[in-house]
Amino acid sequence: MATFRDNLLAGKTAFVAGASSGINLQIATRLAQAGAAVTILSRSPDKIEAAAQSIRDRGGKCIGVAQDVRDHDGVGAAFAKSVEAHGEIDILVSGAAGNFVAPFNGLSYNGFRAVIDIDLIGLFNVMRQGFPHLRKPGATCITISAPQALHPYPLQSHVNAAKAGADMLVKTLAVEWGPLGVRINAIIPGPIADTEGMARLAPTPEAMEKSARGTPLQRLGTKDEVADLALFLASDAAAYVTGAIMPCDGGLSLLGVGRVGV
Ligand code: NAP
Ligand code: COA
Repeated sequence: MATFRDNLLAGKTAFVAGASSGINLQIATRLAQAGAAVTILSRSPDKIEAAAQSIRDRGGKCIGVAQDVRDHDGVGAAFAKSVEAHGEIDILVSGAAGNFVAPFNGLSYNGFRAVIDIDLIGLFNVMRQGFPHLRKPGATCITISAPQALHPYPLQSHVNAAKAGADMLVKTLAVEWGPLGVRINAIIPGPIADTEGMARLAPTPEAMEKSARGTPLQRLGTKDEVADLALFLASDAAAYVTGAIMPCDGGLSLLGVGRVGV
């Protein structure tokens, strides 16, 4: 990691929901390396503690909290723990998500609801419970969306609906919270290498290669590249940016096609 980023967020605090692995862990790591004191949250106590330890091992300040974003009161308790450890929150990232490939006609009520509960209601819980603990004015929020918010991917009706709803919530909060001194933006990652999300959507090497070639830049993105955009949005360099839904996707969103598992 380039040293020029160091101390960009010195004295700041960050809370990253859904950060025991993948893209969100990389974002949390990047924020910690830029000097922020970070709290990370996910369901599994073992996974979240290992992730927090990995950030501490790299010199970052980090605590892990085991919590399900579907539990409204539990999320509130997680914020209380974070504030106790690090103080008011400057940067709030919401990225917990669930996904599996299934046709609409193969989805049970619980299957559809599980994804809506994690991706959309979970976002509500994080933002609704987090807002009172944000340092105002000046705090900034980032949500992790997906290409499914923009185009109707087959076999992804649950994710399409959840992520599209989440992006509209981001735009609404930008309008409501702007006057209160809080920014909020969304990142839409494209196909990102070495992630659980891509393992589920492109389960064979052929499908992975097709996903890579399907972007104008002709390759998968990296977790680092998404973390770089998050660092920009979290910093004062983005002080006039709010309500933006930003692709970090090699140009995929320009093509207007959605497909999985092929
Ligand atoms: P991942 O590694 O599986 O990350 C998901 C995280 O969310 C994990 O830390 C998981 O930890 C946590 N989580 C899941 N359900 C939760 C719940 N109910 N409560 C709290 N935490 C929960 O997947 P990823 O591929 O990096 O995806 C990260 C984000 O990027 C997601 O929002 C996804 O939609 C988005 N995205 C990914 C890609 C991609 O190419 N991978 C593309 C576009 C968008 P626990 O299991 O410990 O709870
Ligand atoms: N096809 C159809 N339905 C499925 C399914 C699949 N591949 N996988 C799960 N479901 C259904 C289950 O059958 C269940 O419905 P039912 O009670 O009617 O049988 C429902 O979804 C909930 O499943 P459950 O395993 O109890 O949910 P959970 O809360 O433990 O897990 C998931 C949530 C299903 C989203 C799980 O995949 C998960 O934890 N994902 C997190 C990691 C992830 O998805 N990372 C990628 C992020 S992009």
